[in-house]
Amino acid sequence: MAELGNIILIGFMGSGKSSVGRLVARRTGLQFVDTDALVEKQEGKAIPEIFAEQGEEHFRYVERLMLEEIANEKRMVLATGGGIVLREDNRQSLRDIGFVVWLTANEDEIFRRVSRNTNRPLLQTADPRAAVKDLFSTRRELYEQTADCVIDSSGMPHRAVVDRIISRARQYFAA
Ligand code: S3P
Repeated sequence: MAELGNIILIGFMGSGKSSVGRLVARRTGLQFVDTDALVEKQEGKAIPEIFAEQGEEHFRYVERLMLEEIANEKRMVLATGGGIVLREDNRQSLRDIGFVVWLTANEDEIFRRVSRNTNRPLLQTADPRAAVKDLFSTRRELYEQTADCVIDSSGMPHRAVVDRIISRARQYFAA
């Protein structure tokens, strides 16, 4: 069986990139890496604080640096922040680094998932539902452009999503 290379998970906040990514890593033996966690470590603070104190632009700058730093890793599952695709250079890098999976779900489910916590600065607005709708519609195209495959996890248990990602990755790396 062909050896797996890097598997990259992109998608909107609440699409399950980190939780599913961790499980994919456990099942495949690949290392789990999360760009949000790298940014937090680099800055020594949590994402809401980075946004509040230095702003989104700074966050995006550090996110880019972290992506450059890990670009030479060979066997990882990379979970990314939902806005990583906003930069063209990031979209290119992600495609160069490995097999890119766009994890998605329907808007209602996304909203239900992101409503459970308050650590997403972009949704701390008077109308978070409208913010989700807005961001979702502007980003959809960017995810689509960047991904090698799309997996809609609406109503699916994590285990089934993990199985699908691994089987798609095996096909990709066997080709
Ligand atoms: C963001 C998504 C977050 C985090 C930051 C910005 C975005 O990551 O990077 O709050 O712009 O969509 P998750 O997608 O893991 O929630």
